Amino acid sequence: MELFLDSANIDHIREIASYGIITGVTTNPSLLAKEDPSVDVRDRILEIHQLVGGHCSVEVVSTDAEGMVREAEEILSWFPEATIKIPMIPEGLKATRELARQNVPVNMTLIFSPTQALAAHNAGARYISIFLGRLDDIANDGLRVLADVCEIWDVQGLDSFILAASLRHPMHIVEAARLGANIATVPYAVLKKALHHPLTDAGLEKFLADYHRLQAEIQQRQQESVTT
Ligand code: G3P
Repeated sequence: MELFLDSANIDHIREIASYGIITGVTTNPSLLAKEDPSVDVRDRILEIHQLVGGHCSVEVVSTDAEGMVREAEEILSWFPEATIKIPMIPEGLKATRELARQNVPVNMTLIFSPTQALAAHNAGARYISIFLGRLDDIANDGLRVLADVCEIWDVQGLDSFILAASLRHPMHIVEAARLGANIATVPYAVLKKALHHPLTDAGLEKFLADYHRLQAEIQQRQQESVTT
């Protein structure tokens, strides 16, 4: 399963990209709104693209198909490898169909049910973003929906990519991988938690302490052999 970072924060993206574990970044208007407003959205997106190089999803804000396609064209004029993020509404389906016809990759977002996922696939979306955390937030089971979608994709042999989004904790990553999602897009804080293990820290501390103790002993023996 590929990992994307779900962020528009340049420091976070730079740090995680330097680990060599992500193949893309997903952004959305809310993530962009958390960042410094003195930086133009286009410039921020281009910086993100330069830092990571792989997948970069940029979301439209129009709610009519024509406006979405126009925005997509503008984003593609910034960099032609962009993936256009389109919301799962009827106008979004129309826009997706048109962009797919032009071979533009679409990440259909705000998907909360298998029927929405199927519609997104049929309209031609390349990425099907299933929102786990927001379903959990309203006492629904995000992973159940993801499991259904993965099973349907398997049975039907569908080739669009299932993208687990709106992740809240490391177990969402584990379960998304177990269920067969192609990609998980992970917020910075969740990814940091997922990489950390106290036994790794304790183990490294002991290895280093033992190494330094051994070095000290070797040095001491060498000094003793010089003085005798
Ligand atoms: O980028 C879309 C999605 O991952 C948003 O997540 O945490 O706002 O529900 P969240």
